Amino acid sequence: MNRDVMMSDAAHFRIIYEINPYMDTGCQPDAALAAAEHKAIAAAHLAAGRTVRHMESAPECPDMVYTANGAFVCDGRAVLGDPPAMRQAEIPYFRSWLKENEFDVFDPPYDFSGQGDALACGRFLLAGYGRRTDRRMHGFLGDLYGHEVVPLRTVSEEWYDLDLAVAVIDEHTVAYHPEALDPASAGRLRGLGLELVEVCAEDARAFALNLISDGSTVTMTRGAPRLAAELRERGLAVEELDTTELRKGGGGVRCTALTLDNPAPDGATR
Ligand code: ARG
Repeated sequence: MNRDVMMSDAAHFRIIYEINPYMDTGCQPDAALAAAEHKAIAAAHLAAGRTVRHMESAPECPDMVYTANGAFVCDGRAVLGDPPAMRQAEIPYFRSWLKENEFDVFDPPYDFSGQGDALACGRFLLAGYGRRTDRRMHGFLGDLYGHEVVPLRTVSEEWYDLDLAVAVIDEHTVAYHPEALDPASAGRLRGLGLELVEVCAEDARAFALNLISDGSTVTMTRGAPRLAAELRERGLAVEELDTTELRKGGGGVRCTALTLDNPAPDGATR
C-alpha cells in the first residue's frame, strides 16, 4: 500500500477562497517555498522506493496540489470525488487522468471528499462522513469494493477531512487523535481489534496524522516529534518534512498524494 501514488504540482497553488478553517486569503503561500516542499515530498516517496505518477495542475484550480480529494482508488477502480463547489473544476482532470491510466472510473452519487474521507486498512474502510462526505457514500463504497465500512465522524471543521485525524500505519495499526472523533465513532474504531496509536492534540494540530505509510517507511510533517518518536520505536523509518506552505491551504503530506494501489479488501487482485 502506498507504493504507487499520484501527485500533481504546486505551480498554481494559492488561496483565493476559504473552504476550511486554515485557509486565509490574506495569507498566501510563498510560491518558491511551496514548490520546494512539494518537490521534497515527491523525492521522499521516491527515496522510499515508491512510484510517483504526475498529473499536471491546471491554472484555474488553486487546490489541485491536494490530489487526495480527487478520488478514492482501490483494486483498479476509482470513485471520483464530489468536492465543494470551489473545487469542482478539478474533477474533469482527475477523470481524464484516471481513464488514461487505465483505471475504471465511477461517479459518486453523493458529496464525497475522495481519499480525504476514505482510508483503506485491510478489510476495513475507515470512512468519514458529515462534513464533506455524505454518509450515503458508505453504502456505495462498501458495495463496490467489498470492505467493511467503518463510519467515523469528526467533531469539528478543524478536522474537515478524516485524513487529518486518523492515519493508517499498516493493515493492523492505526494512529488517531481520540478527541477529534465523536464518542460513538471513537468507540467503533476501538472495537475493530486493530492496534491503535493515540496522538496528542499538539501533534494532531500540526497535521502529524496527515501522513503516508507503506508499512515500513512513514513520510510525515516536521513538528510532531512525539508521533515521529513513537513510530520509530515501533521499528518504522520516519522521514519528516516541512509543510508550512501547504498548511496554508489546509493540507499536508497525505493530501498531496492519491494512493493508486489500495488492494482489494480480501487481498485478491482483479
Ligand atoms: N484547500 C483544500 C480543501 O479545503 C485542502 C484539502 C486537503 N486535503 C485533504 N485530504 N485533507 O479542499
